[in-house]
Amino acid sequence: MCLEAGEVVENTRKMLTRFFNGTDSNRLCFSYNSTDALNMIISGMLKKGDHAITTTIEHNSVIRPLYHLAKFNGVEVDHIPFNSKGFVDPEDFKKKFKKNTRIVIVNHASNVIGTIQPVKEIGKLCREKGIPFAIDVSQSAGKIPIDMEELNVDVIAFTGHKSLLGPTGIGGLYVREGIEIRHTRAGGTGVRSAVKTHLYEYPYRLEYGTANTLGIAGLHAGLKWIEKKGLNNIHGHEMKLTTMLRDGLKKIKGVTLYCQDDLSDHISILPCNVDGMEAINTGTLLDVDYNIAIRTGLHCAPLVHEQLGTTEIHGAARFGIGPFTTEEHITAAITAVEEIADMQKKKSG
Ligand SMILES: Cc1ncc(COP(=O)(O)O)c(C=O)c1O
Repeated sequence: MCLEAGEVVENTRKMLTRFFNGTDSNRLCFSYNSTDALNMIISGMLKKGDHAITTTIEHNSVIRPLYHLAKFNGVEVDHIPFNSKGFVDPEDFKKKFKKNTRIVIVNHASNVIGTIQPVKEIGKLCREKGIPFAIDVSQSAGKIPIDMEELNVDVIAFTGHKSLLGPTGIGGLYVREGIEIRHTRAGGTGVRSAVKTHLYEYPYRLEYGTANTLGIAGLHAGLKWIEKKGLNNIHGHEMKLTTMLRDGLKKIKGVTLYCQDDLSDHISILPCNVDGMEAINTGTLLDVDYNIAIRTGLHCAPLVHEQLGTTEIHGAARFGIGPFTTEEHITAAITAVEEIADMQKKKSG
């Protein structure tokens, strides 16, 4: 039984390595989620006096660990803003490179506005300078193909419970050969127990304690489903429905959309607001009156909302379209938002 369980873990490691086009499955380490992986990357690659470049698209799982290092550990951080369409410009990174830049870290696809960032171009610039390049694929993994080689990426952090269709409590990172991440914890690895320090070699270097075997098995099932369905089919289905939703919402007077004009470099995430209504109220009405579940608020990405000017109104109402969403769901969502917007208009006279 133990060997069988171990096999599930190792097979999932191999499967994920293939999925991201890594070369050595031992360099695929499991963690609790992407926040855990990103913390290991950030604290294991930066030290006092180092400089990091990131973006205003990031989730708090990057913003906060970097902020802590900046506040308490003498690390300097630059945030590259996005343009009116929701994309960062690779040239802006180039302008910020310094002698002590030790990491560039970018959110591959925004969890607020859905824009896919030009990581290949940013990665190319980083390679030219010899600066390690990490991406957060929490939103993009399982939605679009991710080829680390093609994208010039050195490290990726992923989470299992979103579009990889696994359960909560499982995630991980892949670290390309030649990239060093110090271990910032120590503990049991299940092997070579007599060694006093935490093991140096991968995957043990970044894995601590008993593995989440159940989570890994669940993730394995999700990956198998995705492989069978095909990422291009999933993305095609999701973007067809996202376009339908965007077109429907755009026609409603009193609804504002954010960065949704051109969906060609987007994943299936769509933020909006009913004018004059706080996002949380839109979400509550959709939930209670229409049985439609969306995410509202700042989405753990406060800098995105700062730039969109939506902080004061407490964020946005964000629709997420998945492989199991149907045209009927989209039609129902458009009708619901239309009715909510009408109600709001009547209320505000
Ligand atoms: C872009 C992005 N990064 C990181 C995370 C954090 O994921 P987790 O909570 O699984 O660590 C999220 C979750 O919403 C996300 O959207």
